[in-house]
Amino acid sequence: MSFITRRKSIDAIAGREGQDRLTPTLSWPHLVAMGVGAIVGTGIYTLTGIGAGLAGPGEMLSFLLCGIICACAAFCYAEMSTMMPAAGSAYTYTYAVLGELLAWIVGWSLILEYTIAASAVAVGWSAHVAEFINWAGWPVPDALLHGVTSGGIIDLPAVIIAAVITGLLVIGTRESATVNLFLVGIKLAALVLFVVLAARAFDPARFHPFLPYGFWAHVDADGTKRGVMAAAAIIFFAFYGFDTVSTAAEETKNPGRNLTIGIIGSMVLCTLIYMAVAATALGASSFADFSKTGAPLVYILQGLKHPMSAQVVAGAAIVALPTVILVLMYGQSRIFFVMARDGLLPERLSRVSKARGTPVLMTVLTGIVVAVLAATLKLDQIVLLANAGTLCAFIAVALCTLVLRLREPNRPRVFRTPLVWLLGPVCIVGCLYLFFNGLPLFTQLWFLEWNAVGLVVYFMFGVWWSRVGKGEIA
Ligand code: ALA
Repeated sequence: MSFITRRKSIDAIAGREGQDRLTPTLSWPHLVAMGVGAIVGTGIYTLTGIGAGLAGPGEMLSFLLCGIICACAAFCYAEMSTMMPAAGSAYTYTYAVLGELLAWIVGWSLILEYTIAASAVAVGWSAHVAEFINWAGWPVPDALLHGVTSGGIIDLPAVIIAAVITGLLVIGTRESATVNLFLVGIKLAALVLFVVLAARAFDPARFHPFLPYGFWAHVDADGTKRGVMAAAAIIFFAFYGFDTVSTAAEETKNPGRNLTIGIIGSMVLCTLIYMAVAATALGASSFADFSKTGAPLVYILQGLKHPMSAQVVAGAAIVALPTVILVLMYGQSRIFFVMARDGLLPERLSRVSKARGTPVLMTVLTGIVVAVLAATLKLDQIVLLANAGTLCAFIAVALCTLVLRLREPNRPRVFRTPLVWLLGPVCIVGCLYLFFNGLPLFTQLWFLEWNAVGLVVYFMFGVWWSRVGKGEIA
């Protein structure tokens, strides 16, 4: 069978036995917390401002549209991940449904998504810490708080947080998820505090005009892409993360029930929270003002004369953003783990530690890459690149769901996506639009270049060592 068409067997994935199997320890509260932990982060705490600058009050529509597209994707993820409860997420589903070459492209894009997004959040976290250090007057040289591309020597807080999270993941999934549960509570409490205080200053007049920059993405005279859909292409970052829950499928007890609740529950919860935060932010303050700040929620509360609450929200961001890094790095190490286990990347990387039950080497390597990127990269435009990888994965999962409905309509499905012929195409068309029209040209080109490098790696290594290709796994 050619490398383009060779596929993994769904039955083999679903019932896989073997020495390298991850230990099932997770149930749905861990998964909802993991989803919310990954979803609510830098996006809502910082991109709310940038999105408002691109769409005005119409940002509400950007949030709504992203929520709809991601909810459609979440349903498809739930159908696929309960049918194939094994690590690997979109990569594994694509391998089983669309073949090895497309699976490689999806896996390589997921590496981009998770690594760059984790680094971006680490840099965002570090910026909050730098503010705190300055406020407290601690004698830390500025050059140790910024990477070389931002005029410093090294972004030390970002490196430290990447190292700490790597340690948590090495200790074991269960422990990490429990820490995550505690931090998710803090993050949600701060957002609820914001909504309650901002709602008191809500002025409907701020919603006129509702679409100052129009609906469709277009390049303005100053070269900036604006409009509701352009804002959606950035705000999209705030929504994803629920897909990382499906990467934990192999470690989930009773995946049919727990994964479904985990994926859909975390998605719906976050969409509701975001709509509330965006509506109250836009109603309480002028978007022209808060779109210029890196910490819009803190800025708005200060403007409303709630200095203590502003500090509480800022502190919650510092305490809680690491949960996002944790879940993204978790997802990344698991994608690598499965690709290596399949022989597409060196198999030594996929060894599970007997003592820990986790792929220690892979987790540590992932942590090092995230730390190096976070220590050096600038935040701007990273978000868009991470979005490109995610859009690619969402398209693949929706496509897999539809293709499998046609190819194997009678295969038992623990979870069936409702109105699949509506939701699947909405997800695919929405993601394609955001990719080709919402993202700037340079992001599209970077993404293509990343995948060109990936294809070179595949044709030099994976295509020869693929265990499906060698007939070692079905
Ligand atoms: N959704 C995550 C965030 O907003 C990636 O930080």
